[in-house]
Amino acid sequence: MCGIVGYCGPKRVVPVVLEGLRRLEYRGYDSAGIVYLEDGKLIKHRSEGKLARLEDIIDEAIIADSHIGLGHTRWATHGAPTTENAHPHSDCTGELVVIHNGIIENYHSLREELKAKGHVFTSETDTEVLAHLIEDNLTNDLVKAVKKAIKFLEGSFAIGVLWAGMPDTLVAVRNQSPLVLGVSEEDGTFLASDIPALLPYTKQVVFLDDMELAILTADSYQVFSLETDQPVVKEVKTIEWNAAMAEKAGYKHFMLKEIFEQPQAITNTISGRINLESGEVSLPEININGEDLKEIDRIFLVACGTSWHAALVAKYWIEKFANIPVEVDIASEFRYRHLLINERVLTVSISQSGETADTLAGIRIAKELGSKIITICNVVGSTMTREADGTIYTHAGPEIGVASTKAFISQLAALFLFTLYLGQQKKTIDLEVSRTLGKELIDIAGVVESELPRIKSEIEQLITTYYDSRDFLFVGRGLNFPIALEGALKLKEISYIHAEGYASGELKHGPIALIDKDMPILALVPQDEVYQKSISNVEEIKARQGRIILIGTEGDDHLKNITDDVIYLPKVAEAVNPILYTIPAQLLSYEIATKRGCDVDQPRNLAKSVTVE
Ligand code: M6R
Repeated sequence: MCGIVGYCGPKRVVPVVLEGLRRLEYRGYDSAGIVYLEDGKLIKHRSEGKLARLEDIIDEAIIADSHIGLGHTRWATHGAPTTENAHPHSDCTGELVVIHNGIIENYHSLREELKAKGHVFTSETDTEVLAHLIEDNLTNDLVKAVKKAIKFLEGSFAIGVLWAGMPDTLVAVRNQSPLVLGVSEEDGTFLASDIPALLPYTKQVVFLDDMELAILTADSYQVFSLETDQPVVKEVKTIEWNAAMAEKAGYKHFMLKEIFEQPQAITNTISGRINLESGEVSLPEININGEDLKEIDRIFLVACGTSWHAALVAKYWIEKFANIPVEVDIASEFRYRHLLINERVLTVSISQSGETADTLAGIRIAKELGSKIITICNVVGSTMTREADGTIYTHAGPEIGVASTKAFISQLAALFLFTLYLGQQKKTIDLEVSRTLGKELIDIAGVVESELPRIKSEIEQLITTYYDSRDFLFVGRGLNFPIALEGALKLKEISYIHAEGYASGELKHGPIALIDKDMPILALVPQDEVYQKSISNVEEIKARQGRIILIGTEGDDHLKNITDDVIYLPKVAEAVNPILYTIPAQLLSYEIATKRGCDVDQPRNLAKSVTVE
């Protein structure tokens, strides 16, 4: 979950590495550090806290005439987020440095062995073991030493290594943590945990696979398999994102920008995939032919966090329109339970990053059990997309805010299309129904676009009496139950208010005990097939004096009899309600968090991409 950057090339290294770290800071922001080689010596700067604190102390480094170096932004696993624990970590001589993303699971025993051999440790991290282990195996060839050291490691790691004894070379290794090379004829060779770090310099990238080692110089890169010890010919991919897409573009926060990008994200995700004349959905990228799909008798949807909420919505859609039983699993549970999976099961992972460790482990297990794997993913070339049989890309563009917004909406759009596709293959929906539903999906992008500014300003007003609440409940029924969960997750992650999402009908089985005059409850009550039930649940809350916010359908005057705090949304087709009803839930969290002065884009303790278990 940390961010790794490396560079060697004609540019001054420090600004390049800092720019890369800025673009990866969403991966971790507990501490940061850089190292570069100048006059044969490694110069290292580290600081606890965010990258800005490191930048404050490295004025001179910016102009250093150095062209090779590494940088790191940390999400602490082993050892507190202090300067001593910040990467890069050095060996005993100070001539070799390592940056690392992942967890060295056997670091404790390695550390004891290395200490017994006389190595002196200066941090509490698992990473420092790597520096000493490489040192212990080093004679005059860094590559050989890294290869030997890797053999001792258990766990996940993406690492970058620089040694003063080989001043033109960076060595990188990937095993279960993401790592990508950037290549540019003019600007040199780059190393990063994720694509946004590379975008200002190159769109040509090479994704490393597990147990691959890369040797980088200013004008070349070579990749070797650590399993066969042979060179590997890698495909150079061109990334369609550009640097501006990963910038704030005048918005106060990435999260707000990304909320406002949602109409475009929906449009991009569905564009070219549905024929509105015929209603036909085409998804050749799933790489499973129609005959095989017809044999599928169960689907597992596997994901974490917000992506799991998208899966919960999809269960309603797929079961209703494609008539296939769906199980939805939190990936960290899925991977450790007894799975009844065979070749008639289709497993679909849903992930913005395509790198989430638990989700990745889940699809590997399902694959071993004979299931076909599809991933619904936003990041081109990410590990999940490379391991799945097929990928439905969500075209949301880079999502930088730690709280996922546009990725979620585009996942919903992709899952809706996927539902129609399944229904067509299984012949559970005819093309006319599919055409109508597809049209509703397309139309929702326009509705979201036109309603966003109004919803934002109404929520801004509304939260002035709610922003200092200690707790919050979100409730919804049917398709909007997962949206209640998503609203609660958004609020807790960015505002630190304790929040829970419930199925409205579940309240009286326990949570209703929490309701009193101080408890705010946001209820999603569109005029859908469970409307009357939802209203009854809201009345139960009112009877217990809960502070009710209602999100409901334009023209539903009854809502005003229940509470003054109503946000009206236009009536749209019931099936696409969850897309529209997500918007006020996101904005409520955003407005409350900003009013409370919280760091919306980089909430405490979190990292965007959870690449460790
Ligand atoms: O990259 P993924 O979609 O696999 O990430 C899954 C979760 O870590 C992610 O959705 C997380 O819950 C977000 N912070 C939610 O806003």
